[in-house]
Amino acid sequence: MRRISKTTRWVWAAAVVGSVCALPAGWAAAPPEAASCAACHGADGMGNAAAGYPRLAGLPRQYLADQLRYFADGTRNNAVMAGMAKPLTAAQIHALAAYYAGMKPQGGSAPAPSPAVAAAGERLALRGDWDKGILACIRCHGPGAVGVGENFPPLVGQSAAYIEAQIKAWKDGSRRGDPLGMMHTVALRMSDAQTQDVAQWLAAQPLTLKPSTAAKH
Ligand code: HEC
Ligand code: HEC
Repeated sequence: MRRISKTTRWVWAAAVVGSVCALPAGWAAAPPEAASCAACHGADGMGNAAAGYPRLAGLPRQYLADQLRYFADGTRNNAVMAGMAKPLTAAQIHALAAYYAGMKPQGGSAPAPSPAVAAAGERLALRGDWDKGILACIRCHGPGAVGVGENFPPLVGQSAAYIEAQIKAWKDGSRRGDPLGMMHTVALRMSDAQTQDVAQWLAAQPLTLKPSTAAKH
């Protein structure tokens, strides 16, 4: 019985994948569960900015696996993703994280915000706000905010609405699990205006790649 249902799922996944015209290179190795993720996160793993579905393509493998576990155990409180993550086994989480981490991010950025918003957002991202004890975002997220290592995700390629929602979630405690409470500390010090400015500036930055990701493809 188990064998049959597994085969059925494969056939279903193949049908869903087959219906997408331009298949990104990574699809051949897609774990079957990825077919359901694609409905929101896209076949290219780039999410859907208008709907608030984040980019997964090229995010660090360890970070992706951690987030799936956080959604499943409520450390990160989101009803939609809790429903998706709870049924996943450890092996499935491992396979999905590896799959999305290996995908090459692609696509454009949001239009530039007004000069005043852009200037304020850029200042916070590149220099921080010393009066309020806010470190520059790039100190942890890397030059170009392309991400660093396995624990610091990229911020470029995410929508302003998603970035803003995450800062709010750290403020109100609905998102936790960040190593050493780093983002909780940063978020608590950010005003609403600073959050909006930096989110809009980040969303408009070019989608440059981490050196390791760029070299792989
Ligand atoms: C119905 C839409 C939907 C589906 C289907 C879905 N997701 Fe999500 N996903 C979301 C939303 C919305 C968020 C943002 C949640 C938040 O704001 O905390 C998210 C966030 C995530 C994140 C966090 C990304 C980050 O940058 O921190 C990961 C990882 C993720 N999803 C993986 C998956 C995987 C793997 C699947 C398939 C098993 C999946 N999702 C299916 C809507 C969806
Ligand atoms: C002291 C280090 C540090 C600084 C400074 C920092 N971050 Fe982070 N950030 C992190 C870590 C670590 C994570 C991953 C959290 C996790 O694993 O749950 C993260 C995650 C995020 C995420 C979630 C990304 C996603 O895909 O869900 C956003 C958004 C974010 N940071 C925005 C910012 C902004 C904006 C700034 C500057 C104002 C900033 N960060 C400064 C350490 C930092």
